Amino acid sequence: MYRQTHQTIQDWYQKYGRLDLPWRNTDETYYIYLSEVMLQQTQVKTVLEKYYIPFIERFPTLKSLGEAPLDDVLKMWEGLGYYNRAKNLHKTATLVDELPSDIEELIKLPGIGQNTAHAVAAFAFNQPVPIMEANVKRILCRLHQLITPTDKKLWEIAYDLVDKVNSFDYNQAMMDIGATICLPRNPKCKICPLVDICKGKEAPTKYPTKKKRVVPTREQNILIRVYEDKLSLTQREGKFLHGLWGFESVEIPNCASEYLGEVTHAYTHFKLICKVYVYYEHSPEQRDYFTQSEIKKLAISKVDEKIVKLFTKIDI
Ligand code: ADE
Repeated sequence: MYRQTHQTIQDWYQKYGRLDLPWRNTDETYYIYLSEVMLQQTQVKTVLEKYYIPFIERFPTLKSLGEAPLDDVLKMWEGLGYYNRAKNLHKTATLVDELPSDIEELIKLPGIGQNTAHAVAAFAFNQPVPIMEANVKRILCRLHQLITPTDKKLWEIAYDLVDKVNSFDYNQAMMDIGATICLPRNPKCKICPLVDICKGKEAPTKYPTKKKRVVPTREQNILIRVYEDKLSLTQREGKFLHGLWGFESVEIPNCASEYLGEVTHAYTHFKLICKVYVYYEHSPEQRDYFTQSEIKKLAISKVDEKIVKLFTKIDI
């Protein structure tokens, strides 16, 4: 089945694929696993420019990652977002000496879902299995004219289509076709290697339907406490942004505090608006105060970075 299609995909990949991506040129299972975790919610460009290589240089083996303090791992992850990924990577590194090759075993590890397990199985262990990244989903929907498919259906057709002889190149190619040809809005069907088997090519943008998400807005009052040019930050404990350092959020800002301005940040599930206040303390409280250069060494979230910037801009 699909012999001709597989050949066409392989030829296309050799000619147009992103063959030089570093995680496609290694057989270190840890590096491949790391890349897949980074790429779960982050674009190739960002991972490539700032994170993948420095992370490997800092933690060259799974063992070294497991032995490092979580704070150091979060610091290397700073700015990538979805910090649970870093915590789960770290946790996994403390749990196993080597990654298992079996999908069922991989899924048991923290932070590894169906797609990442399949990607690690295919890319690190050359198993004949498909992957299900967002671009691939779109391709499969179009191939079969599916508007709102279930995951079960998508996995069925993915398993049916996968090239079992060379699943590595096949899966990488599918992602590249999704990223460069089977585009959400203006797909280039005329030059698509899958055009011969595509049932959706007459009206590709009908498949799948886009979920229109309305993201709620959350507001927070943030209080920067300043003592002798140092700022107070605390390490977060809740589930969200756990382990990262940040400024205190308060119900009602202290009446002696000054309003500095607003920073906003768009998370996947909500938009955060922070009203930022500053309060100059006369005597130090029982808190951790940091100079601006000390703050640079802490792992802080994007929002808190924006708050530091706002403070720096206004406070000079
Ligand atoms: N996104 C997830 N995995 C990827 C990979 N191996 N190459 C490019 N983009 C990806």
